Amino acid sequence: MTTYLWEWLNLLGRGVHVITGTAWIGASFYFIWLDNHLQAPADPKDSESGVGGELWAVHGGGFYHAQKYRAGPPAMPAHLHWFKWEAYTTLLSGLFLLGVVYYAQAATMLVDPAVNAFSPAGAIAASVAWIMGGFVVYEGLCRSPLGRNDRALALVLAVLTAGAAYGLCHVFPGRAAFLHFGAMLGTIMVLNVFAVIIPGQKALVAAAAAGQPVDPKYGKNGKQRSVHNTYFTLPAVFAMISNHYAWIFGAPNNWIWLIVVSAAGALIRVWFVQRHRGKPSPWPLVGAALLLAVTAWGLRPQVSGASTTSAARAQAIVAERCVTCHATTPRFEGLTAAPKGVMLETPGLLAANAANVRIQLASRAMPPGNLTNLTDAERAELIAWIDARGPDGR
Ligand code: HEC
Repeated sequence: MTTYLWEWLNLLGRGVHVITGTAWIGASFYFIWLDNHLQAPADPKDSESGVGGELWAVHGGGFYHAQKYRAGPPAMPAHLHWFKWEAYTTLLSGLFLLGVVYYAQAATMLVDPAVNAFSPAGAIAASVAWIMGGFVVYEGLCRSPLGRNDRALALVLAVLTAGAAYGLCHVFPGRAAFLHFGAMLGTIMVLNVFAVIIPGQKALVAAAAAGQPVDPKYGKNGKQRSVHNTYFTLPAVFAMISNHYAWIFGAPNNWIWLIVVSAAGALIRVWFVQRHRGKPSPWPLVGAALLLAVTAWGLRPQVSGASTTSAARAQAIVAERCVTCHATTPRFEGLTAAPKGVMLETPGLLAANAANVRIQLASRAMPPGNLTNLTDAERAELIAWIDARGPDGR
């Protein structure tokens, strides 16, 4: 019953997280797009009243006319919409989900004897430290003298982000490491909105309402943080969805692939931003495609040699190491149904799931936290047995 309740918290937390995250990223992509598609106002009267650019659009059965003022509008409107709750709710629901998925099951999700020797509480402390530390270091750098040089700052951030990928993959099991990489970037992005971008907008509104010039530092800082957020977006999203792909988060040297795919994500964003401005160079896209191709090649399955393992022996290993959880009625305490619907108690079921079983074994994603002490020899034996059976399963 408790497991069932946790499943509901998981579903609700994830639902809110995905939807608010989509709304946040959608709004931010939309405004970048809008800014880059504004045209000079058609009506000279608009231009006189301070409109710098406008855009006509049709969407969902209506015509929309957005206008951007060069400075403040002549009179502050009674209702001014702020885009901030999308970002805040994404962070709050993300932290909730981190608690439900990783902290509540720290022994299996954050600890793996092959990677770290944490106690569950130690692993949770490490997780909090990484996420907060990421933001503290980032904020410190942006506010330091380095923060005045956009290019140098970007370079240092790129190197540190790569370093974080390396560090996380050496502290947490692959799935948690990738997720923490995304959580670290995501937290930085939301706190950028909360601590810099929104306060800057408040100063902008206050100055415009008072008819005074705005201190340019607000615009400059806000712009710098928005640019960082833009390039963090795709790497963060990749890290968030990576838990579906054990063959990447569980690969040997997984940190390299985390860095390479993140770099591809940032390059794809570079291309989109250039495209919005109307003059995209194909090179960022070519670079991203090359990085993804290198990843695909680097992670190709390595088929093992001949196998002397019999089907009965394979089934015996699985019965001992997997079936506690992967059965119609799991014996593992707290489980009420086979995880992900994967049942392995008969040769037919094992054969039906063989491809996925191989991925989970090769990536070391299963057994979680190696709770059932699958030995490396048994792991290799099972993989070789699956490979030797061939694609038709015989
Ligand atoms: C302690 C319980 C437990 C044990 C033991 C265990 N698993 Fe799992 N398995 C899980 C859980 C929990 C999930 C769901 C993970 C998730 O939410 O992504 C899972 C998921 C899977 C999946 C589906 C993965 C996917 O994303 O499609 C496969 C395949 C799998 N396990 C195979 C195995 C094999 C093979 C073994 C034995 C070597 C094993 N498991 C041992 C708990 C267990």
